[in-house]
Amino acid sequence: MLREIVALLYFLIRVTFAYLKAFYRLFVSPSKVPVRGRVVVITGSGSGLGRELALRFAAKGARLALWDISVSGNKKTAELIQSETPDAEIHLYTVDVTDIELVKTSALRVRSEIGDVHMLINNAGVLVGESLLELRNDDIRRTIEINLLSVFWTLRAFLPGMLESNSGHIVTTCSAGGQNAMHRLTDYCASKFGIFGLDEALESELRDVYHKTGIKQTLICPHFLDTGMIHSISARGIAMNKTDDAADYIFDGILRQKRYIYFPRIFSLAPTLKELLPHEGRLALLDFIQTKIPSQSVNRPHYD
Ligand SMILES: NC(=O)c1ccc[n+]([C@@H]2O[C@H](COP(=O)([O-])OP(=O)(O)OC[C@H]3O[C@@H](n4cnc5c(N)ncnc54)[C@H](O)[C@@H]3O)[C@@H](O)[C@H]2O)c1
Repeated sequence: MLREIVALLYFLIRVTFAYLKAFYRLFVSPSKVPVRGRVVVITGSGSGLGRELALRFAAKGARLALWDISVSGNKKTAELIQSETPDAEIHLYTVDVTDIELVKTSALRVRSEIGDVHMLINNAGVLVGESLLELRNDDIRRTIEINLLSVFWTLRAFLPGMLESNSGHIVTTCSAGGQNAMHRLTDYCASKFGIFGLDEALESELRDVYHKTGIKQTLICPHFLDTGMIHSISARGIAMNKTDDAADYIFDGILRQKRYIYFPRIFSLAPTLKELLPHEGRLALLDFIQTKIPSQSVNRPHYD
């Protein structure tokens, strides 16, 4: 009985401390961790958010392994980095992240050609934007493979090295659609909700199965970005966000090793709001905001 009371007290003290710390963090951010000389792998580096993050990591002296299925996209990223940061160390890898064997061999190549990986940024993703019955079977399969299954393959390739050194940082690009679902995104939201579960289950495993506390995790949840993945949305009070602004905010959050990064910041309230509102209240909120992805507003994914 005494043990139970002590455990309960300990739990309450920890929760109180967590609240105090969270309150303090509203005013004082954790300091940035330098990445100079660190090996950083970014998937989906050939475009959009991945490219913008690569530019920022290069400027801070990280040694970059850029993974993309698109040869031309990755080359373009390298050219942009070279023009902004001529002495940057960049290594390009043409990798389809859904190809398990290629992921394994590419991870080994990164380790032997560059060194131990400090940070893995799982960012490659696709969005088809059709309603459930309009989606092709292959669209559904490919979205789940690229957005979700590939994260298992890269984690299984890079996690052992991080466990060995009990250090490293796993960054995963989820989405606002990873906690709040909407029309034309059944496959996409399924993949992003999956990423959420994977990331949180991994956090629990790192503590309770592997007993490693040195590996950091960051889950990125952006709202719509003007990367070209979606051309346009219509919604009351919600606009397409500039990728440049998002990348600045997200990069800063990664360096500060934040656990969750919502962009724009106001969207950090979305999960709480979802839990607080009764189901019909949530539907009323969606009707009020009237977020719509117009048909034909999505670039069908295509590759070199
Ligand atoms: N654009 C948005 O509105 C938005 C919002 C929230 C989250 N996200 C997420 O952000 C991430 C980046 O998206 P983005 O908007 O920069 O899109 P993007 O299309 O500009 O970039 C995605 C990159 O992933 C690469 N890629 C696709 N399939 C691949 C594969 N099999 N193997 C390796 N690389 C592959 C593409 O070639 C491309 O370079 C994605 O995970 C996306 O789901 C985007």
